[in-house]
Amino acid sequence: MKQIIIATRNQGKAREFKDFFSPFGIQALSLPELEKDLPDVEEIGTTFEENAALKAEQIAEMLNKPVLADDSGLVVDALDGRPGVYSARYAGKEKNDQANMEKVLEELADAPKESRTARFVCVLAIAIPGEATIFRKGTCEGSIAFSPRGTNGFGYDPIFIPNTYSQTLAELPKEEKNRISHRSDAVKQLNDWVSRLAVE
Ligand code: IMP
Repeated sequence: MKQIIIATRNQGKAREFKDFFSPFGIQALSLPELEKDLPDVEEIGTTFEENAALKAEQIAEMLNKPVLADDSGLVVDALDGRPGVYSARYAGKEKNDQANMEKVLEELADAPKESRTARFVCVLAIAIPGEATIFRKGTCEGSIAFSPRGTNGFGYDPIFIPNTYSQTLAELPKEEKNRISHRSDAVKQLNDWVSRLAVE
C-alpha cells in the first residue's frame, strides 16, 4: 500500500489525513507511527507558511522521502488574528485544548455575536528532497460560539461555528467537518501532488 508521511504528532490532524487519503488507497502515516524515532521540529516561524516549511523540510531531509506538513490555527478578527500560529500553545506550552478555548472565550467575553468572526487556516507544505517546497492554503470561515459545544474533532472545534451552520464543528459528524474544513480545502488543492507524495 502507498503511504504519505505527515509531519505531525497531533492525533486529531492525523485522523483527518487518514480519512482524506484512505479512499485513494493511500495510508497517511504520522510521526509516532514511523519506525524511526525523530526529534521534535521547533516551530519558530511567525507565519503558517514558515512553520509548515520547517516541519516538512526537516523531516523530509531526515527521512530522505517526500513529506507533507500541516501548520494550522484559528484566526479571530477581534483579537487581531490571535491565536494564529500560536493556536496549539495559546494558553501555555503544555498545549491544552481546554485551556486554549477558555482563553479565547475570556478574551471575547464582551464581544457581541457580530464581532466574533473568525476563520480556521491550514497551510500545507510539500517537501520533496532536492525540490523547492510547494504550499497550499485552505480556510474555513465562521464565528466563535459563546461556550463550548460538542465532543467530535479536536482543538478549538467546540467553539467554532462554520458560516451557514448553527452547530459547532465538534457537533457535526466527522464526514461533514471533513467536507467543509480548512484542512480539506487545502488537501483538495493538492491534486497531482498526491501521487508525488505517495511512496511504497
Ligand atoms: P500546529 O500543530 O502548530 O499546526 O497547531 C495547530 C493548532 O491549531 C491545533 O493544536 C489546534 O489548537 C488548532 N487547530 C488546527 N486545526 C484545527 C481544527 O481542525 N480544529 C480545531 N483546532 C484546530
